Amino acid sequence: MLIAVKPDHNEADTHMSYFKHHVFFCCNQRGDGEDCCNNLGATEAQTYAKDRIGQLELKGKGKIRINKAGCMDRCDDGPVIVVYPEEVWYRYVDKDDVEEIIQEHLINGRVVERLKI
Ligand code: FES
Repeated sequence: MLIAVKPDHNEADTHMSYFKHHVFFCCNQRGDGEDCCNNLGATEAQTYAKDRIGQLELKGKGKIRINKAGCMDRCDDGPVIVVYPEEVWYRYVDKDDVEEIIQEHLINGRVVERLKI
Protein backbone atom coordinates (compact mmCIF):
# COMPACT_ATOMS: atom_id res chain seq x y z
CA MET A 1 0.00 0.00 0.00
CA LEU A 2 1.29 3.42 -0.92
CA ILE A 3 0.83 6.09 1.67
CA ALA A 4 1.09 9.69 0.62
CA VAL A 5 2.93 11.73 3.17
CA LYS A 6 2.08 15.36 3.14
CA PRO A 7 5.11 17.50 3.87
CA ASP A 8 4.59 19.60 6.95
CA HIS A 9 6.26 22.58 5.36
CA ASN A 10 6.56 24.13 1.95
CA GLU A 11 10.15 24.08 0.73
CA ALA A 12 9.67 27.37 -1.03
CA ASP A 13 8.70 28.93 2.26
CA THR A 14 11.88 27.82 3.95
CA HIS A 15 14.26 28.82 1.16
CA MET A 16 16.76 31.38 2.34
CA SER A 17 18.89 33.50 0.05
CA TYR A 18 22.58 32.79 0.47
CA PHE A 19 23.12 36.52 0.82
CA LYS A 20 20.63 38.82 2.48
CA HIS A 21 21.42 41.37 -0.22
CA HIS A 22 23.39 40.73 -3.38
CA VAL A 23 24.36 43.96 -5.11
CA PHE A 24 25.62 44.23 -8.67
CA PHE A 25 27.40 47.33 -9.92
CA CYS A 26 27.62 47.64 -13.68
CA CYS A 27 31.30 48.37 -14.28
CA ASN A 28 31.18 48.01 -18.02
CA GLN A 29 33.81 49.97 -19.92
CA ARG A 30 33.16 50.72 -23.57
CA GLY A 31 35.81 51.86 -25.98
CA ASP A 32 35.85 54.96 -28.18
CA GLY A 33 34.40 57.21 -25.49
CA GLU A 34 30.94 55.65 -25.75
CA ASP A 35 28.62 56.15 -22.78
CA CYS A 36 28.99 53.47 -20.15
CA CYS A 37 28.73 53.14 -16.40
CA ASN A 38 32.47 52.96 -15.92
CA ASN A 39 32.95 56.39 -17.50
CA LEU A 40 30.71 57.67 -14.71
CA GLY A 41 32.73 56.31 -11.81
CA ALA A 42 31.31 52.80 -11.47
CA THR A 43 34.53 51.03 -10.51
CA GLU A 44 35.30 53.61 -7.81
CA ALA A 45 31.73 53.37 -6.50
CA GLN A 46 31.87 49.55 -6.40
CA THR A 47 35.20 49.66 -4.56
CA TYR A 48 33.76 52.16 -2.09
CA ALA A 49 30.71 49.97 -1.42
CA LYS A 50 32.81 46.82 -1.04
CA ASP A 51 35.19 48.53 1.39
CA ARG A 52 32.31 49.98 3.44
CA ILE A 53 30.55 46.62 3.72
CA GLY A 54 33.84 45.15 4.90
CA GLN A 55 34.39 47.95 7.44
CA LEU A 56 30.87 47.51 8.74
CA GLU A 57 31.43 43.75 9.06
CA LEU A 58 28.42 43.06 6.86
CA LYS A 59 30.23 40.90 4.34
CA GLY A 60 29.50 37.21 3.70
CA LYS A 61 26.92 34.46 3.95
CA GLY A 62 23.60 35.63 5.29
CA LYS A 63 24.79 39.21 4.93
CA ILE A 64 25.83 41.31 1.96
CA ARG A 65 27.80 40.71 -1.21
CA ILE A 66 28.96 43.51 -3.52
CA ASN A 67 29.81 42.36 -7.04
CA LYS A 68 30.99 43.89 -10.29
CA ALA A 69 28.85 43.15 -13.31
CA GLY A 70 29.14 43.67 -17.03
CA CYS A 71 26.63 45.72 -18.98
CA MET A 72 23.12 45.23 -17.62
CA ASP A 73 21.47 46.85 -20.64
CA ARG A 74 20.35 50.00 -18.83
CA CYS A 75 23.22 52.14 -20.08
CA ASP A 76 21.06 55.23 -20.65
CA ASP A 77 20.12 55.19 -16.96
CA GLY A 78 23.69 54.69 -15.75
CA PRO A 79 25.57 54.36 -13.63
CA VAL A 80 23.31 51.61 -12.34
CA ILE A 81 23.19 48.98 -9.63
CA VAL A 82 20.63 46.30 -8.89
CA VAL A 83 19.94 44.87 -5.45
CA TYR A 84 18.67 41.30 -5.09
CA PRO A 85 16.53 39.57 -3.98
CA GLU A 86 14.30 42.65 -4.08
CA GLU A 87 15.39 43.44 -7.65
CA VAL A 88 15.51 47.16 -6.98
CA TRP A 89 17.46 49.24 -9.49
CA TYR A 90 19.24 52.45 -8.58
CA ARG A 91 21.09 55.19 -10.36
CA TYR A 92 23.69 56.87 -8.17
CA VAL A 93 25.72 59.98 -8.82
CA ASP A 94 28.40 59.91 -6.16
CA LYS A 95 29.65 58.15 -3.04
CA ASP A 96 27.08 59.92 -0.89
CA ASP A 97 24.37 58.20 -2.92
CA VAL A 98 26.11 54.84 -2.53
CA GLU A 99 26.41 55.43 1.21
CA GLU A 100 22.70 56.26 1.42
CA ILE A 101 21.83 53.01 -0.36
CA ILE A 102 24.07 51.10 2.07
CA GLN A 103 22.57 52.77 5.15
CA GLU A 104 18.95 52.88 4.09
CA HIS A 105 18.40 49.85 1.90
CA LEU A 106 21.09 47.36 2.83
CA ILE A 107 21.11 48.04 6.57
CA ASN A 108 17.63 49.36 7.35
CA GLY A 109 15.65 47.68 4.57
CA ARG A 110 14.13 50.89 3.24
CA VAL A 111 14.20 51.45 -0.52
CA VAL A 112 15.77 54.81 -1.45
CA GLU A 113 12.95 56.10 -3.60
CA ARG A 114 14.80 59.19 -4.84
CA LEU A 115 17.51 57.04 -6.47
CA LYS A 116 15.27 54.22 -7.69
CA ILE A 117 14.90 53.74 -11.45
S1 FES B 1 27.19 50.12 -19.46
FE1 FES B 1 26.17 49.92 -17.52
S2 FES B 1 24.22 49.16 -18.02
FE2 FES B 1 25.28 49.17 -19.91
